[in-house]
Amino acid sequence: MKNILVLHGPNLNLLGVREPGIYGQVTLSEINERLVTLAGKSGAVLEVFQSNAEAELVGRIQQTLADGTQFIIINPAAFTHTSVALRDALAAVAIPFIEVHLSNVYSREAFRKESFFSDLAIGVISGLGATGYEFAVQFALNHKNQA
Ligand code: DQA
Repeated sequence: MKNILVLHGPNLNLLGVREPGIYGQVTLSEINERLVTLAGKSGAVLEVFQSNAEAELVGRIQQTLADGTQFIIINPAAFTHTSVALRDALAAVAIPFIEVHLSNVYSREAFRKESFFSDLAIGVISGLGATGYEFAVQFALNHKNQA
């Protein structure tokens, strides 16, 4: 059975309220429900974890060494542009991952074009809103080269 972990970084708990013109009206709970349902239809298990704290996200990534996670989908949010610690954690566990952003980070401020994750990721989805997570789950479900 496929085990997928979806990680959400800081301020994504405010989706629906936070700058809806940029991030959309859909809440994080709604996104998570859709992803759990989508994975469930294929007989996969999908777990979600959100934190505003870098240390908690590093800790959750480290847990994947022991919990059977086979694929990670991560929106590192602001940590995308700052966190060597999260990058190193993903490199350490060596589980394939996709980097997702709701907004098109390439059409925004210059600092958002830099990511500490993209070169390690299988791929990056940016600018497709909440649907981007669904495409990432679809990819994960079909991904054969399991960790
Ligand atoms: C984001 C883009 C980041 O630049 C920003 O800091 C976020 C969300 C996105 O999903 O578009 O918090 O990752």
